[in-house]
Amino acid sequence: MEMLRAKVNETELAYTRSGSGTSLVLLHGYPLDHSIWEPLVPLLKDDFDIIMPDLRGFGGSSLLEAPATPYQISDMAEDIALLLDELKIKKVLMAGHSMGGYVALAFALAYSKRLLGLVLVASQAAADNAERKAGRYVLAERVEASGVGEVADGMPSLLTGDVNLQAWLKKLILRQSPAGVAGALRAMAERPKANSILVGFKQPLRIIQGADDRIIPIERAREMLYMNNGEISVIDGAGHMPMMESAQRIAEVIKSLRPKR
Ligand code: MLT
Repeated sequence: MEMLRAKVNETELAYTRSGSGTSLVLLHGYPLDHSIWEPLVPLLKDDFDIIMPDLRGFGGSSLLEAPATPYQISDMAEDIALLLDELKIKKVLMAGHSMGGYVALAFALAYSKRLLGLVLVASQAAADNAERKAGRYVLAERVEASGVGEVADGMPSLLTGDVNLQAWLKKLILRQSPAGVAGALRAMAERPKANSILVGFKQPLRIIQGADDRIIPIERAREMLYMNNGEISVIDGAGHMPMMESAQRIAEVIKSLRPKR
């Protein structure tokens, strides 16, 4: 798909745009890029104007030439708000995958009036515990020193049980920039818990969780329903990548949130 570009917040954001209808923003997880959502495009393009950004530091939104100043998940959410300003889009449906869900929750805190609804795919409201946070800082340093190879070797088998998809994901991770991967690790480590955002979120919420997710346990997904009376769809046979492992089911959930005309 053709990559478009917009200058926001001192960084250049790459994104694709396809289809027509209700504006839908799809935010990818770590350490990936917009292309994880591509299986959904043929299923959604007749109903949605689909915007798939590469979050700062990933894919075509490389941080290689930017100063390596630390940033927060909320800065990544602001990038998306500025991209929507640039595109003159006021309100969107937003789906966030894992880290993209953290960005979507930060977006909901700062710009709730711009959301028609929210879909959190394999994500959580919880913050990191001390051990996970420390581990992220250690890994960020190793990635900066030695590149993304360690992440590309270790992560695919945690993301999915599908070996073909594992091979595809490994190649995708190898294309990511060390600066972007390290920046996102530090941003995730510093993110606050999002419980109160969910409590205050009044638009429709859907949670999608693979039954076999090895990165975010299903309890993390279910506990979000104590904070918001949204709905959960548990996808049997899917791991951490339900938009690729079970695209049809995810498309149905997203379609169910489309405002009636
Ligand atoms: C992701 O899939 O985006 C990340 O693994 C989430 C995380 O590490 O918390």
